[in-house]
Amino acid sequence: MSLQGKRVLLVVSGSVAAYKALELARLLGKAGATVTGLLTAGGARFVTPHALQAITGRSLAEDLWSLRQEAERGHIRLARETDLVVVAPASADRLARMAAGMADDLAGAVLLAWDGPVLVAPAMNPTMWAHPATGANVATLMARGVHFIGPEDGPMAEAESGTGRLSEPPAILAAIEAVLSDPDHGAPDSALEDALDAAIAAQAEEGEGRPFAAHRAPRRAEGGSSFTDGVPHAADHRADPVETTPSTFSASQAIGAEVAPHSVHGTAPGALPLNGRHVLVTSGPTHEPLDPVRYIANRSSGKQGHAIAAALAALGARVTLVSGPVTIADPVGVTVKHVETAREMLAACEAALPADAAVFAAAVADWRPAEVAGQKMKKPADDAAPPLALVPNPDILATLSRHPRRPGLVVGFAAETERVVEHARAKLARKGCDWIVANDVSGDVMGGAENLVHLVTASAVEDWPRLPKAEVAARLADRIAETLRA
Ligand code: C5P
Repeated sequence: MSLQGKRVLLVVSGSVAAYKALELARLLGKAGATVTGLLTAGGARFVTPHALQAITGRSLAEDLWSLRQEAERGHIRLARETDLVVVAPASADRLARMAAGMADDLAGAVLLAWDGPVLVAPAMNPTMWAHPATGANVATLMARGVHFIGPEDGPMAEAESGTGRLSEPPAILAAIEAVLSDPDHGAPDSALEDALDAAIAAQAEEGEGRPFAAHRAPRRAEGGSSFTDGVPHAADHRADPVETTPSTFSASQAIGAEVAPHSVHGTAPGALPLNGRHVLVTSGPTHEPLDPVRYIANRSSGKQGHAIAAALAALGARVTLVSGPVTIADPVGVTVKHVETAREMLAACEAALPADAAVFAAAVADWRPAEVAGQKMKKPADDAAPPLALVPNPDILATLSRHPRRPGLVVGFAAETERVVEHARAKLARKGCDWIVANDVSGDVMGGAENLVHLVTASAVEDWPRLPKAEVAARLADRIAETLRA
């Protein structure tokens, strides 16, 4: 996607990964976006203002007071040049400040008052990322509609490894494209202008001893809000906080545009039904290598599993998506662990526990080659096919259903071509899960945009109509939210 004409405010906070923000700025520029850099005090310890300025080709947004001294010209220019605020890298401290609504520097003030889309790419030490305080801050921000990408697993600067690495700049770029390609994420043109006005006014008045919170810019509930199929989007609820109670907000509503709700500023934290919940989702196929160039796999696009992850995130859940190799983009606002084999998928699922619920939508290969050749297998001289010995893969759904740290609600999928419900019931008992989403694949749903499913529980069967995969995902997320609430 071209980002021609798009304007991005890039907030760089204090992290050793801040150097990657320069590469992100370069990629954004290459994609056609206009980037304005904003270095926090911490960010400026890792990259210089000169470097960021040289790469973006523009002056940086500097501190609150210098913008004010520019007789407001600075912030008006900034406002006219922004469609999306990206915080990359976002340190643990920056996430805490954002969650708490602190406004003691320019980045904080802008983020507090801005009601357009925000994408955050965290980067920190794995222990800091795993800390419940950080988890609570992330959940709060997600519930407000802030989008997340990463962090990723891998080696860290401190010779440690774990989850905490900043996503790679091309992945952040893809997430930016995903957020900006959603028409509902268009911020009102003057939103940042208001944000800065409010921030500047508040800072001035704070000096006079009055609290910042009383001086937020008036929110424009009508700005950019729209209805899809008569269903109000999350942003439409801003005008009326009563509407955003868990009982009135559904994934079907949020998913009206097939994405997580955007800005829900003005909504109390916890207003989304899955806020504070952690849900694990598997998606896509697994690849089981035969040699370095060959593998066996099931057909799976990952569309349904990825849509479920997005729908759960739209309801405020912290979602870990363990995905096999797919060609679709990571859903925004979800932590994605990319794996290749069934054994890697199982390990990633176990590492993601505890979880309140888990949805196993992956098409896991039932078997893998007993031996994996270290080099590409050569064709024998007589052109005979080599024997292929297979061994069973672990059953991830069955393992997690009987796990000592079993998620509270376990949902499996069953792709069937005949006697769909009967087979699903048998699978429910065999795997030990709570629900099976029985997928009738006798038609053309494989890789397609729609699905025909039955929700099979121990006591009932619900027949759902043929629906777009995003709608199946939204309904399932709603049912999970209802069940966890009960
Ligand atoms: O046994 P079958 O493959 O039909 O079961 C499908 C369900 O089991 C799906 O939810 C799938 O994600 C899960 N599964 C799994 N691990 C396997 C095989 C299937 O988690 N090895």
